Amino acid sequence: MVAMTTTPTRLPGSLPGALHLGGLTVETPVVLAPMAGITNAAYRRLCLEQMQAVGADGVFVCEMITSRGLVEGDAMTRSMLVFDELETRRSVQLYGTDPIHVGKAAEILCAEYGVAHIDLNFGCPVPKVTRKGGGGALPWKRGLLGAILENAVRAAAPYDVPVTMKTRKGIDDDHLTYLDAGRIAQEAGCAAIALHGRTVEQAYSGTADWASIAELVDHVDIPVLGNGDIWEATDALRMVEETGVAGVVVGRGCLGRPWLFRDLAAAFRGERIATLPRLGEVAAMMRRHAELLSLHMGEERGCKEFRKHVSWYLKGFPVGGALRHSLALIDSLATLDVLLSELDPDAVFPVAELGAPRGRQGTPRKRVVLPDGWLDDADGRDWLMAEDVSAASGG
Ligand SMILES: Cc1cc2nc3c(=O)[nH]c(=O)nc-3n(C[C@H](O)[C@H](O)[C@H](O)COP(=O)(O)O)c2cc1C
Repeated sequence: MVAMTTTPTRLPGSLPGALHLGGLTVETPVVLAPMAGITNAAYRRLCLEQMQAVGADGVFVCEMITSRGLVEGDAMTRSMLVFDELETRRSVQLYGTDPIHVGKAAEILCAEYGVAHIDLNFGCPVPKVTRKGGGGALPWKRGLLGAILENAVRAAAPYDVPVTMKTRKGIDDDHLTYLDAGRIAQEAGCAAIALHGRTVEQAYSGTADWASIAELVDHVDIPVLGNGDIWEATDALRMVEETGVAGVVVGRGCLGRPWLFRDLAAAFRGERIATLPRLGEVAAMMRRHAELLSLHMGEERGCKEFRKHVSWYLKGFPVGGALRHSLALIDSLATLDVLLSELDPDAVFPVAELGAPRGRQGTPRKRVVLPDGWLDDADGRDWLMAEDVSAASGG
């Protein structure tokens, strides 16, 4: 585990207690957002290590996997269901548009993979997903949403595994779904609902609308988890204060900054820990990340997977273009070590990066791609199930 230099000070204000997801108690109400291509076993462990270093827990959600792939025994899907030995609380996000498949997949996750939590993806904005009526498009079909949630809850209930849903505000501002989704989730027996305060149309552009999260908190009795634009631990506390959420879901803010989980754990204990690692400490974290990826995937694939993280780790640090470029091409841990040794270990953290967005941002979609006639009827129980799509691009 990588040690980090931190400076604790007390924070004012009231804090939410533990997060209760059915029978599952999470002392620190913080969830690592599912991120396709990012939240694999190695990354989840890296973040978990940061929380455990300060005696905290949390929920660390696996990359989204498709129900159909799981039910049909697809090798690629099954290969994504790898857990680290440190993960005693396995959490998986399922994608699906077919109540039968989702129910069966939930059963498999509980019976064969011993998961402790299942999240369902109803927020993905990727066109190849919404084109099939999946992800963020699906909650428009209230009846179908209810049927999927009920099946998942029913399948997981004998194992005492809580089911949550994660969604967006709606398809666009004229087709909002989050309040109905909250009510449907509650009626279906979901343990919580997570809301990303953007529409599908917005994708990752603009800023997340936390007022909609507050509105959902008022609308339902189940716990609401707030998601969108938590870049620092103080943002998480501000979200709790402004919206009344029972917990937070953190995605892009921890890209290249797994230590954010340490800061979040401290924040929810009433302390402020601003982890401002020097470049030497960041290099040690990079090494740890690449090492865990290699452990889980083999060195060659692990190092390739690591490449995409390099620019996030180095954002704002004084590192030359050639070195950055070489780091983004590593193919072995030995090469990584040589290149990391060229970094200036004493370079201080670029504080200008604090609070700054990272990862996907971009522009709103010109139009959300939906199946023909999707918006004509808001029930959809009879919707002929579209083919599940690959999990590759996530949401
Ligand atoms: C690379 C990437 C992959 C993502 N994959 C998923 C996914 O598989 N399932 C999902 O529900 N959300 C996915 N998301 C969305 C995040 O979980 C989260 O809702 C979103 O990034 C907003 O939170 P943030 O502002 O904290 O990043 C993904 C986001 C990113 C950046």
